[in-house]
Amino acid sequence: MRDATAPEGDPGPGALPVAITGLGAHLPARVVTNDDLAERLDTSDEWIRSRTGIGQRHVAAADEATADLAAEAAKSALADAGLGIEDVGSVLVATTTPDHLIPGTAPLVAERLGTQVAAVDLNAACSGFVYGLQVGGALAATGAGPVLLVGAETLTRVVDHGDRATAVLFGDGAAAVVLVARPGARLGPFRLGADGAQAPMLHRRSGGSRYPTTAAGLQNGDHLLTMRGGDVYRHAVARMAAASTEVLARSGTDVADVDLFVGHQANARILEAVRARVGIAPERCHVTVERHANTSAASIPLALADARDAGRLHPGATVLLAAFGAGLTWGACLLTWNPDDEEIT
Ligand code: UT7
Repeated sequence: MRDATAPEGDPGPGALPVAITGLGAHLPARVVTNDDLAERLDTSDEWIRSRTGIGQRHVAAADEATADLAAEAAKSALADAGLGIEDVGSVLVATTTPDHLIPGTAPLVAERLGTQVAAVDLNAACSGFVYGLQVGGALAATGAGPVLLVGAETLTRVVDHGDRATAVLFGDGAAAVVLVARPGARLGPFRLGADGAQAPMLHRRSGGSRYPTTAAGLQNGDHLLTMRGGDVYRHAVARMAAASTEVLARSGTDVADVDLFVGHQANARILEAVRARVGIAPERCHVTVERHANTSAASIPLALADARDAGRLHPGATVLLAAFGAGLTWGACLLTWNPDDEEIT
């Protein structure tokens, strides 16, 4: 329940008066099915579907990198918002698979779009989009918007393609939103968290300043993604459920009033466990992991775009997002989907 004494248009505790006015997605053309993977790995469509819900993934072409996917998604989001690149105040790219370690990917995306405004990366791994919503929302609310926030990844470039435990889980893709300050809109509240003590649970050990790239390290595969899957699974369920419950409580929203739940699309079993713990009705969940696999920071905006295209996002809908990823990081947020058709202010 909102505070009846709050000023009219107040978005509520911990929330920003910011609207998502544009949403766009871009998936690489090439699709790799579970059966395709089973031709070269000791795995099966049955194992992958039953343990993860994944049926296929999109994979970037050899000449496509994260910035290329990001720029396409950004163009689509801008068109959806009815804005030109000259209207944009800041560009944020949430990614854990940047084109290069130096420089960031956001300046490369901004260059492709034709702007020299502030452009910076945000690496919260699979939680990057939810983190980016709070960072980008705050930028938009303090005059640095409209903000173009892109979640973009090419995880298939950093997995060990010979390791069936990780190679089957990930896909590539990008999706973007435009964040605009707007009285009466609601973005939040947020509950973000991190636990660096658990970093080795899901990481690429080498290639940074701690363990620079060496010939021996490359030989050993230290630059590739490694994961303790079972531990990640347990933490993901606990953290996403707790963060979701906290944002609902903080905003005084009854779980029955959540119109759409979009969780990080890593594993259908994780999403089902979070759904059950939080008490969300099954028909209020949007799940794309079957078609997209785990696209890390891109997974939630890709699923949002998919829900919109399926007619599942109506103006005024209460949307709950929850994410979890390497770091460890996690987060949840509530938002009201495009509350009205007002002109951008
Ligand atoms: O975005 C966040 C990043 N990651 C995640 O969210 C992933 C979280 N974790 C998970 O989704 C699950 O833990 C996995 C899908 C990774 C694994 O599922 P699981 O039910 O926890 O399986 P498991 O790791 O306990 O492995 C069970 C068996 C093992 O064989 P043994 O030791 O029982 O003989 C694995 O070697 O399944 C085997 N296995 C496979 N078999 C066929 C592991 N990967 C495969 C595979 N195909 N692709």
